[in-house]
Amino acid sequence: MNIKNAATDHPILKLLAERWSPYGFEDQPVPEGDLRSLFEAARWAASSYNEQPWNYVVATREDAVEFGRLLGCLVETNQAWAKTAPVLVLGVVSLQFAKNKQDNRAAVHDLGLAAGNLLVEATARGLFVHQMIGILPDKARELYRIPEHFEAWTALAIGYKGDPAKLPDALRARDLTPRQRKPLGKFVFTGKWGQSSPLVQKRDP
Ligand SMILES: Cc1cc2nc3c(=O)[nH]c(=O)nc-3n(C[C@H](O)[C@H](O)[C@H](O)COP(=O)(O)O)c2cc1C
Repeated sequence: MNIKNAATDHPILKLLAERWSPYGFEDQPVPEGDLRSLFEAARWAASSYNEQPWNYVVATREDAVEFGRLLGCLVETNQAWAKTAPVLVLGVVSLQFAKNKQDNRAAVHDLGLAAGNLLVEATARGLFVHQMIGILPDKARELYRIPEHFEAWTALAIGYKGDPAKLPDALRARDLTPRQRKPLGKFVFTGKWGQSSPLVQKRDP
């Protein structure tokens, strides 16, 4: 079993258990058809009032100018490893409903849902995605002329996972460390805040 596979307490879909966020990527381009399917998966995410507040800017390493532009919108610590990914994507969220200009409190939630869809589709295609909050939204706004009420929120590095041996020491350790999660009892409550739900104390037979 892969060291990164989720050691689950309860059964979940294989695709969810096998997803993880690598720092090392293979030097191998992603077929355009796969990229289209990733965005198609994002497209079919649920969203509040079907607003579909997600927008993406995509750049592949084959287009050095566009790739450099998008890489420049990441904080330096993310640039250091994300520069080896064959594909970078900037997630830009519309923070207002198009119809009535009211604030959309679900917008960022829905950008996350779309990312979830994209990640599952990617995993099914043997691809890996590393999401990033460490971006430079003001720089992105300037470079891409992102309009008011839209905000660059996250970035995605997409590709095939690389050999951890080729990574610098600090990053190699991250790609070789098992993934950890809080137990269900720490975040599923019943009755009052902080009180573990009896539901999640039970084990499946
Ligand atoms: C919204 C979001 C933002 C993240 N931002 C960063 C980031 O800026 N830099 C980074 O190295 N990892 C980032 N990550 C990756 C997380 O650290 C990673 O998902 C977490 O440690 C769990 O590991 P796993 O995805 O391998 O299960 C981000 C993940 C998410 C979902």
